[in-house]
Amino acid sequence: MNESLGKPIDRVDGRLKVTGAATYAAEYQIKNLAYGAPVLSTVTKGRIKDIDIQQAEKMPGVIGVMTSENCMMLHSPSGSDPGSGKFAEKDLLPLQNDRVLYGGQYVAVVVAETAEQAEQAAAVIKITYEEQKPVVGFEANFATAYQPGSGLGGAKTQEKRGDADAAMKSAAITTNETYTTPVYSHNAMEPHATIAEWNGDKLTVYDATQSVMGVQGLLSTILGVPKENTQVYALYIGGGFGSKGFTWANTLLAPMAAKQFNRPVKIELKRQQVFSAAGRRTQTQQKIGLGAGVDGKLTSIKHDTISETSFVDEFVETAGVATSMIYSSPNVEVKHSLVRLNRGTPCPMRAPGESVGMYALEVAMDELASKLKMDPVQLRILNHSDMDEQKKKQFSSKYLKECYQRGAEAIGWSNRNVEPGTTKQGNLLVGYGVATATYPANRSASSAKATLFADGHAEILCGTQDIGTGTYTVMTQVAADAFGLPVDKVNVKLGSSSYPKGAQSGGSQVSASVGPPIRAAALGAVSKVVKIAIADPKSPLFGKKEEDIIANNGHIQLKDNANKGESFMAILSRKGMDKIEASAKTDVSTRQQQQSSPAPDGSPEAKIEAESKTNAAVQADEKTDRKDYVFHSFGAQFAKVLVDPDLGTIRVEKISSVMDIGTVMNLKTATNQIMGGILFGMGMALMEETKYDPNNGRLVTRDLAQYLVPVHADIPEIDVQFIEKPDPFISPIGARGIGEIGVTGMAAAIANAIYNATGKRVRDLPITPDKLIV
Ligand code: MOS
Repeated sequence: MNESLGKPIDRVDGRLKVTGAATYAAEYQIKNLAYGAPVLSTVTKGRIKDIDIQQAEKMPGVIGVMTSENCMMLHSPSGSDPGSGKFAEKDLLPLQNDRVLYGGQYVAVVVAETAEQAEQAAAVIKITYEEQKPVVGFEANFATAYQPGSGLGGAKTQEKRGDADAAMKSAAITTNETYTTPVYSHNAMEPHATIAEWNGDKLTVYDATQSVMGVQGLLSTILGVPKENTQVYALYIGGGFGSKGFTWANTLLAPMAAKQFNRPVKIELKRQQVFSAAGRRTQTQQKIGLGAGVDGKLTSIKHDTISETSFVDEFVETAGVATSMIYSSPNVEVKHSLVRLNRGTPCPMRAPGESVGMYALEVAMDELASKLKMDPVQLRILNHSDMDEQKKKQFSSKYLKECYQRGAEAIGWSNRNVEPGTTKQGNLLVGYGVATATYPANRSASSAKATLFADGHAEILCGTQDIGTGTYTVMTQVAADAFGLPVDKVNVKLGSSSYPKGAQSGGSQVSASVGPPIRAAALGAVSKVVKIAIADPKSPLFGKKEEDIIANNGHIQLKDNANKGESFMAILSRKGMDKIEASAKTDVSTRQQQQSSPAPDGSPEAKIEAESKTNAAVQADEKTDRKDYVFHSFGAQFAKVLVDPDLGTIRVEKISSVMDIGTVMNLKTATNQIMGGILFGMGMALMEETKYDPNNGRLVTRDLAQYLVPVHADIPEIDVQFIEKPDPFISPIGARGIGEIGVTGMAAAIANAIYNATGKRVRDLPITPDKLIV
């Protein structure tokens, strides 16, 4: 009843972060800690013939060197329990053989008393390779392209309706262009880091991860340690952007080394090491064909993506996933294919699929608008899809037209000249661009535990994590409202694998997934207190009906008479109880709309499932009929740019972004999320690019001096608005996730604005000045 939800409250962990009191994975002070320095392969493909560790072993402080010749054997993660996380390189468990399949692959780990000693010794290890000719170059290997299986979350990689080719042939207006995007590297502020400590056969791991539960599951399978003996912590995370969603070898190497040398071991990657063996976004080539009538109505959409993956795992960048649902068209064909290169494995990054896909599609829409001489906002409204025409289902809620209208107003769209290259501000060319944003609204099964204490405060435990997005804060708001407590009386604890299983921080799903069970668990605890009161002759609520009672400001009271009631503290202390607990699991999935398998008998999760059957909030939520709906967020991205016609330099002057994401849980953190996405989109459009040596396939860009990201001086005026219409079907909270949608469409809006400013259509990201002055 306090209704803190929606209010722009400050981050509950803000003070801890700015004072340095928030402890990140690498910062735990562990007694007797040793330091591991990984050694990375200097060749791109081959076999290790010999590793000479003799000199390294004699270096000061060195405890030992772990190589494929002396390290423990690991168990393959394939076929492991589906609740486990994903190991990013399923065919390349670290140090298990002598093969090298990409440059920068881990080939040894030196463990020493200090980080400096470990690094120094790592530098003198002599490795003799038998080099083989690597597969390098993306376009050069298109002949080997093959059709992959499904993408993330079972996404289809080939889709078709009608006959796109025939419709293209008979279309009055067509565009057929090729768009390319480079490899991008996540570059979260906090590099990947793992501390592992064994206590007998019990393992404790502090890891920079987007999924404590996933890491627990994987470590258990791969190292062969029972789950209950594997404890994973990730209390604070300095960003992930997808790079910490899958688990990488560093998370295995630390416990392996800790076991081998009988010491707790920390492995903290250097910025340069993060580029090679900790994820990246794949390179893509996308061909987009659009066919329309003279009226601008789309009759055909073709989207054909080639991306690349490694030789150790298959990751498909599903760039075409939104293409079949975002616009109305009777004929659509979406294809994906993959080539394999000797590079580190790609993985999800900042709105995987839609980021690069909506870049290409939305630039193509701009090209079509130019050919039609039609306003590009108008073209999008004309082709608005009222339903998902591929799945033939309604959207749970959609206010995209309002997004276009409000965004156009905010950016000053009426000042845009249809004729490119004709608007000037001083000697600079001015351009405006628009693009559509979309991302699926994912929700998955999650659970939580709530405790009301006799001293008047409450606690939530949930095995999810806050990767820097504000999860601690918004979940405090959700819980506070359900408990009927002010936010400063609620302590939300996340980031431990010992808590009830919560969602992984990926696919923009945490808020929608863990919000409902947190709310239900808190309501469950309140309900238990209410039941005690109405059965207690000493309570002013004795004999009343539960449905007539609400929780408010630490009290339970009659709905229609706030004076009739008493505090939680009074009830619990009268009963001699120090706390009341309730747990809840909501088994809802918007992705495949299927329920998770029941937990094993007698497990802690099974107890939560049993209790949830008596929780009214869980029951109502699970009963909501979702099967006739698809869940998506939408938005409109607008950019205004200034381009220097002589130098080709681009200044993004203003961004307006209007997002339809259901309930806004916290205006401040929500705005931050979208702003972050906008900056990722700017980086993608204008700066970011990971390069490989075209001859030997080794990484060239390996630090933030070469890999450019937007800095404060690049940041324009950013206007973020929300539609604020709760989604009636996703959950009782009505909020869809917003972690990733802010990126989608942003690069296209900027690219389209650059075209409007200059008349130059650059179809190869990033759009750097050299590409504008040729
Ligand atoms: Mo996100 S790129 O799904 O972690």
